[in-house]
Amino acid sequence: RTLDDAKDLAGKTALVRVDFNVPMEGGTVTDDTRLRVALPTINKLRDAGAKVALLAHFDRPKGQRVPSMSLKPVVDDLERLLGAPVRFANDCVGDEAKAVLADLDAGGVALLENVRFHAGEEKNDPAFAAQLAELGDVFVNDAFSAAHRAHASTEGLARLLPAYAGESMRRELDALDAALGNPQKPVIGIVGGAKVSTKLDLLKNLVGKLDRLAIGGGMANTFLYAQGVDIGGSLAEKDMADTAREIMAEAAAKGCELLLPVDVVVAAEVKPGAASRVAKAGDALAADDKILDAGPETVARLTAAIDASKTLIWNGPLGVFEIPPFDAATVAAAKHAASRAKAGQLIAVAGGGDTVAALNHAGVADDMTFVSTAGGAFLEWMEGKPLPGVEALEA
Ligand code: 3PG
Repeated sequence: RTLDDAKDLAGKTALVRVDFNVPMEGGTVTDDTRLRVALPTINKLRDAGAKVALLAHFDRPKGQRVPSMSLKPVVDDLERLLGAPVRFANDCVGDEAKAVLADLDAGGVALLENVRFHAGEEKNDPAFAAQLAELGDVFVNDAFSAAHRAHASTEGLARLLPAYAGESMRRELDALDAALGNPQKPVIGIVGGAKVSTKLDLLKNLVGKLDRLAIGGGMANTFLYAQGVDIGGSLAEKDMADTAREIMAEAAAKGCELLLPVDVVVAAEVKPGAASRVAKAGDALAADDKILDAGPETVARLTAAIDASKTLIWNGPLGVFEIPPFDAATVAAAKHAASRAKAGQLIAVAGGGDTVAALNHAGVADDMTFVSTAGGAFLEWMEGKPLPGVEALEA
């Protein structure tokens, strides 16, 4: 159920779960993306004459009232983005919250203090969910990026009030469906990042669903090592070699073409501007040679594979993109995918922590079809796991 299904909201109080777990330094929001994605839902509810009570978590205070984890610093940025006042309640339940909400006019907005200051939030305690439910008439979940958590404000509350997916939640779910649920084929995945061990479930799920899967980043070293390729002193999980071989066998059995690096950029030092060279996968490497990026031949094969695909799903960089020149493969692949997406030739969906940073670094995040604001939730969805916050909306 989406917000379009919610009728007669005038004068009602909508409890809206947003994800304001934003990067903050010294009490200042350093990236307001997650605030901006919440605006369409907030404005739609305001236009319908509802009172908007925003529920969110910040960081991991573990059920304690930790002052440095207050959501209060978010208020100024939210007011600026909304162009409207935002009231702040020092608690998300009880008299304090009730008083602030009672005082709101129709169309007014309030932000309630960090739900994780209460232990009942992460325990999904029914009594705490009931205390939240007392505050409103309807529940709107607009926090896809927190939907992998079965918490009171993401899951429990959805079972107590009429519950709807907000605009950002709906956009995320539509994009994910277009990328993996019901995609235009052929579909290619790019999975990078440091470790196979953290993306094992994801790789296993993807080889059964994708036509092609490109593996990059540190985890590609583990695959190369498993194939008997000399990786010198590169980061790799040698104890995962058997698992890597299993994934390769499974991909072959399921008709998923695996794209592993055929050439690599190696350097003795991991520092900006370090002297580097390109080696063919299989060349002998020195003991202090570290593979830090995919090479140009690998990038050429990857861009050709992207050209042969209608849908791309991307998680994780191809190299140490934070330290140029080891950003070259990630930037080249990102620019290529984004230009095809912009031209309407590719549905390109990306998400998960580093991926967004890498796309921003390449300057192409806005040209992708969709960039998820989610980290862990995006990964769990790529792993094929049910997301409790989404399932509760479907019940
Ligand atoms: C995130 O930032 O990925 C979400 O807000 C979830 O945060 P959590 O990992 O602390 O549950």
